[in-house]
Amino acid sequence: MQDNNSKILASGPAGARETVENLVNSLIREVGNAGMGLDDVVALWYGEPDAPTPDFICQAATVSLNQGDTFYTENFGIAELRQALGDYMSALYQRPVDNERVAVTASGMSATNLMQQVLTNPGDNVVVTAPVWPNLIETVRIMGGEPRFAWLQFGNQGWSLDLEQMFDMVDGRTRAMLINSPSNPTGWVMSHDEMREVLDFCRARDIWILSDEVYARMYFKGRAAPSFLEVAEPDDKLVVVNSFSKSWCMTGWRLGWLTAPSSLMPTLEKMIEFHYSCPAHFSQVAGVTAVRDGEGFVTETVARYKQARDLTIDRLQAMPKVRVHRPDGAFYAFFAVDGMTDSLNTCKEILRQTHVGLAPGAAFGPQGEGFIRLCFASTLDRLEDAMDRLEPFLG
Ligand SMILES: Cc1ncc(COP(=O)(O)O)c(C=O)c1O
Repeated sequence: MQDNNSKILASGPAGARETVENLVNSLIREVGNAGMGLDDVVALWYGEPDAPTPDFICQAATVSLNQGDTFYTENFGIAELRQALGDYMSALYQRPVDNERVAVTASGMSATNLMQQVLTNPGDNVVVTAPVWPNLIETVRIMGGEPRFAWLQFGNQGWSLDLEQMFDMVDGRTRAMLINSPSNPTGWVMSHDEMREVLDFCRARDIWILSDEVYARMYFKGRAAPSFLEVAEPDDKLVVVNSFSKSWCMTGWRLGWLTAPSSLMPTLEKMIEFHYSCPAHFSQVAGVTAVRDGEGFVTETVARYKQARDLTIDRLQAMPKVRVHRPDGAFYAFFAVDGMTDSLNTCKEILRQTHVGLAPGAAFGPQGEGFIRLCFASTLDRLEDAMDRLEPFLG
């Protein structure tokens, strides 16, 4: 009897788990949906490169399909890709990363979801650097966990994190620190020194670090943004999530990877089997080509985004109502608009009047209100056009 009652209490009106029914829709999508049917929209709302996947990567997938790579693969992904990723990270970070610690995943998003399933019990909490891409927060909520926001500060020198404040949020139910650097939406980048402090703190308290480094290569001050892989030991309680989506323009391929301590791999293997079993074989083959032959493409893309960033920031900084910093990483301008208290309706109004699609700051957590995110992974012409349209509104 008691069991039946608790089942009823745990479900929402549609009969799904209450926690899941209570998830809120993405406010970014809400603006996107408002743009359906509008012509001539400059869409800078989603975090997506505007260029298609380069030909040499697509061709690798075609060859793979033609040779019959249409079956399941190993849970952790094909050996060739794990090896390619181990080699890639070892070269990038100048420290050996064993391919046995690599699991290829069906996107960065599924890697993060998987990790929450692995770590978070109902009632546990996860301390998250914020403003933050909403999908990351929801992975904690889906498990019945509580996300605790460690807010970045928007000061004269750009975005910064108060580590002491973040550490103060930890209690006996904290399972992990979820850190996204380079950050979506702010472009903030955590330094090696800050990473070392977080690592020391987490080691002392036996807390996991989940480091979302999907923008590792979208970095304007060097070849790659600082990584926890450069400061941690292989057996630290650290999982680094990465993705093919941004670096190689492969959002639709649903391919990512994570790097974990060896002791966690048997658990991950089971979880992957029960989650998505393996990523698509031909996507993985394309991934091998991306990692092995795509360095020139990444370098060119980042150079293109750097110009795009500078154009966007220069134009925004000239608009009297806007306050913005030049981000060191990722591909977003996250700017404050003086006097704006409702970013969702402002984005809808901007869309209606100018046909420029932007993402409301409120989507990235409560302290994101007052800000708007613009994705500058676009051509200079489109960005100029967007800025010309926005100027009367934000000038
Ligand atoms: C911070 C962050 N993490 C993870 C992802 C997920 O990337 P994907 O699922 O396409 O690999 C994104 C995508 O926008 C992101 O911004």
